[in-house]
Amino acid sequence: MPYPIHRPRRLRSNETIRRMVRETHLSPDDFIYPLFVTHGKDVKKRIPSMPGCYQMSVDHIVREAQRAYKHGIPAVILFGIPEHKDERASEAYSSRGVVQRAIKAIKDRVPELMVITDVCLCEYTSHGHCGIVKDGKILNDPTLELLSKEALSHAKAGADMVAPSDMMDGRVAAIRETLDAHGYEEIPIMSYAAKYASAFYSPFRDAAESAPQFGDRKSYQMDPPNRTEALKEVALDIEEGADIVMVKPAMCYLDIISDIKNTFDVPVAAYNVSGEYSMVKAASQKGWIDEKRVMMEILTSIKRAGADLILTYFAIEAAKELTG
Ligand code: PBG
Repeated sequence: MPYPIHRPRRLRSNETIRRMVRETHLSPDDFIYPLFVTHGKDVKKRIPSMPGCYQMSVDHIVREAQRAYKHGIPAVILFGIPEHKDERASEAYSSRGVVQRAIKAIKDRVPELMVITDVCLCEYTSHGHCGIVKDGKILNDPTLELLSKEALSHAKAGADMVAPSDMMDGRVAAIRETLDAHGYEEIPIMSYAAKYASAFYSPFRDAAESAPQFGDRKSYQMDPPNRTEALKEVALDIEEGADIVMVKPAMCYLDIISDIKNTFDVPVAAYNVSGEYSMVKAASQKGWIDEKRVMMEILTSIKRAGADLILTYFAIEAAKELTG
C-alpha cells in the first residue's frame, strides 16, 4: 500500500517546487497571431463577435505586427477581406490584393517577423465556399489551380510560409509543385491537415465575412467524430510535402493533437479558433470566469497535448502574461 510513503502533495506544496517539477512551459515562441486585413486606409473596425480583434487596413496591420513582434511573437498569419468577391476568387491571387499588399508592408517594416498566409478561397468567393462551385457542388481539381496561383502570389509578395486551409484533396502537392516551379522551393507549407467542419468557426466567419451563402463545408472539412481519418489526412499531407501539419480547432480536439504528435515526426500546430476565443471573452465579460487564468490554462493544455505551435487570438495577451 503506497500511502503514507507516497504523498504526491509533497511536490505541490509551494510555487517554487511546483515550478521545478512543471512539465509544460509556454513561451511567446509558440504563438502565431492571426490578423484580418481589409482594404482602405486608417480602418480599424471592431469585430463584435471577437472582442479585442479588428479588421485592419494595411497601415494598422503593420502597427499591430510591430506590436506582436515587440512582445516576442515570431509569426503572424494573414487573412484577407477583399474589396470585391466573385465566382473565381480573383482577388485571392491578384498582386494588388489586400493580403499581397499587407505582406510587402510588414516585410518592409518588420523584416524579422515571419509572415504566414492563409491560402483559401472562401473569403474571396461570392458564394463563400473554399472552392469552385458548379451546380451546387464544390469541385476539387479545378480548385487546386486557383489555390496554387494564390500561394504563388503570396510567395511573390514576400510571404515566408503558406498555409492552405481549404481541405481540397491534393492541394499540398499542387502548391508545392507550383512554388518549386517558380523558384520558391525554400518556402515551407503549413497545411491545415486535420481541419474539422466545426461550429466553433462562426465568429471568424463574421470577421472574415466568409460564411458560405448556401449549404455548409461538410463535404470538404472533416467530420468531428472521426479520429483515425485525421491520421490519414496528416499522412497524405506529409507525403505531398507539408512541413508543418495543423489540427483545427484545438480545444475539443486535444486527442487528435496528441495522436498526431505521437505518430509523426513533423512539427504540429493547433488552431485555437475564434469560437474558443470568443467563449472565453464572453464568459469573462459576464464575470463568470477569470479570463487570464482560463486563457493560460487553455493554451498550456494545447501545448501539453503535443502542439509545437499555437495559432491564437490571445497571442499578445498571453505573451504579456509570460513576460510580465
Ligand atoms: C478559411 C478559414 C476558416 C478559419 C481559418 N481559415 C474558416 C472556415 O473554414 O470556415 C477559421 C478560424 C477561426 O475560427 O478562428 N477556410
